Amino acid sequence: MESTSGLAKGDPIHTLGKIIEASERSVPRRREDPEPAITLEIDPKPSKDSKFAIDLFIETNINYGTDGGLYAELIANRAFQEPETNSTDPSLGKGTLKYWSPTSSGTKLNLTKSNPLSNALPQSVTISGDGERCGIKNTGWFGIPIDDQEYQLSFQVRSASGGGKSDQEITFGLYSSDMATTFAEGSDKVTLTSEWQEKRYTLNPRGKAGNADNVFALQVPCQGSDVQVNLVSLFPPTWEGTVARRDLAQALADIKPELVRLPGGNDLEGNSIAARFQWRNSVGPLKDRPGRLGTWAGWNTEGLGLMELFDIVEKMGASPILSIYAGYSLDRQAVPEDELQPYVQDALDQLHFLLDESGEWAELRASFGRKEPYSFLKLVEIGNEDWINNAPDTWPYRYPAFRDAIAKEFPQLGQIASSPYNFTGQPAIDQHDYNTPDYFFTQFDRMDSWPRNGTKIYGLEYAVINGGNQESGDIYGGPDRLKHSTMNGALGEAVFTMGMERNGDLCYGAAYAPIFMNEAPGAQQWSPDLLTFDNLNLVKSASYHIHQVNPSSKPETSRVFHSVGTDSQGWYVIKLANVADHASKVVLEFGGGGEGGPKFSSSQATLWQISADGREVANTLSNPDVISPTTSNLPPSSFSQDGSQLTLDLPSLSFSIIRVPTI
Ligand code: AHR
Repeated sequence: MESTSGLAKGDPIHTLGKIIEASERSVPRRREDPEPAITLEIDPKPSKDSKFAIDLFIETNINYGTDGGLYAELIANRAFQEPETNSTDPSLGKGTLKYWSPTSSGTKLNLTKSNPLSNALPQSVTISGDGERCGIKNTGWFGIPIDDQEYQLSFQVRSASGGGKSDQEITFGLYSSDMATTFAEGSDKVTLTSEWQEKRYTLNPRGKAGNADNVFALQVPCQGSDVQVNLVSLFPPTWEGTVARRDLAQALADIKPELVRLPGGNDLEGNSIAARFQWRNSVGPLKDRPGRLGTWAGWNTEGLGLMELFDIVEKMGASPILSIYAGYSLDRQAVPEDELQPYVQDALDQLHFLLDESGEWAELRASFGRKEPYSFLKLVEIGNEDWINNAPDTWPYRYPAFRDAIAKEFPQLGQIASSPYNFTGQPAIDQHDYNTPDYFFTQFDRMDSWPRNGTKIYGLEYAVINGGNQESGDIYGGPDRLKHSTMNGALGEAVFTMGMERNGDLCYGAAYAPIFMNEAPGAQQWSPDLLTFDNLNLVKSASYHIHQVNPSSKPETSRVFHSVGTDSQGWYVIKLANVADHASKVVLEFGGGGEGGPKFSSSQATLWQISADGREVANTLSNPDVISPTTSNLPPSSFSQDGSQLTLDLPSLSFSIIRVPTI
């Protein structure tokens, strides 16, 4: 399948020469030309094979991007695990009724630790009270969208008294938040015992709600009922049989990433060692997943756990980069050297669980529904940002412990080190860049002179996060922090990734970060993001469009940056970012000239282009497509008669990809 840029997934971009020095020479000016045309001379000899690929980073927890976002679960705090806002206590059983409330004034809801569903989910709720119907309702994460489609409901229920109850009537449904409108409702008479049992139903609303101000509710007769409830779950149809929200997952799949890094980021490390990501707690039946306090948005259910994430990556046709906790957390505590071994073993167990073909780990995985090993896992990353704070102090013992143990048992796995910059000798490193557009423009040639010493470079977190229009040393907290990705920022990112792509012998991949931002009030901790959404809508940012098309000179003069390569058909792929506030005319011609050299063929040449009227223009919920790509065929008039030159008028603030065959 072709992407909108015309590049098919897997198309290797063979970096073609450098463009032989982006020479700027004047060509005769037409009166209307605002600036002298820039001539870019293309070296037709391929200089190196590029390994550069566009990757993704599915970062858990941040901005309610996974729970409340990619994870399609509609019930928030489904197992009464979420602590009060601002709680830093990661222990279980401290949950609340957050997102839940009684359906009537007579209803009494009681959070109890008696007769827990499981060790992992120690709290549940009993429903009693006065009146006709008593019940509990859930607002979802910032609302529940309702459409004419099937919703899969499940919950766990037992007799609260333990004495048993036959014909317990339970009514469940989807309603407007004031319960005045019923969109879908069902009921059942259930025989309850002291044992927990899982009930499953389908809800099929007839029609669509106009907004997401809706609830799910479960109700019983107030008199004579005897119910204790936990783990209430409601899923709309999901993406490709996974647990993912359809529009969000499809937008990720459309990027056609080669590699997808997961699960964090800071959320891998946790706010403390105890709150780190623990893979064992993210696999198996949901009732055995205790969840944990995430580093950004609050509680992680871990419903979008290790296997679910791998399943999504697999369906995208990509490979995961599995980030391995490396004994360091955000409270600056490192696991002491003499206590590190169990953590190393835990990482090895995780890999056995994912990769073994037989034996106890393979059997466990099969019992969780996956017989075949996840053999598309080829790459692990050890740690996250081990250059920060005091992490470098302990990195010298932490990193080799994981590196060597993994290399010994899993020699087939590639490794990326999240290492401090001053260490050398790692097979691959992951550099992160968050900065201003101007910074990114200056990074275009960062990799040109980078030592080719065998260490591969990944840039698995990059983004323009600050407009840079105001003097401040603090790009994170200072003024001009961006809320949304702007055209100027996206151009900076295009230039940056073109710089990596032009050095595709060294730079293996780049991923924008973070991916998701839930736009609901109070849901954000980090901006800007690749995709923003609410319950009903998804906005693809300017950065998304740039990242999706897999971008490619020097800022100081022309403000036109370029990269040139070929695709698998041998067509030239020419990327041009005009980051100037004025239109620019560019003349592309082949170097080496003379007879017998390549010539542009005007037939079938295409242009993919994105531009905006101003640097600060951004796609938002209220104006989602102000920056959106156009595709067109290049007119024959763009080509000189002998095919030696291709002339383009680049609008101000634009990024263009030309695909052109040669003869
Ligand atoms: O992407 C946001 C955060 O930036 C990541 O969690 C962390 O790795 C980096 O500092």
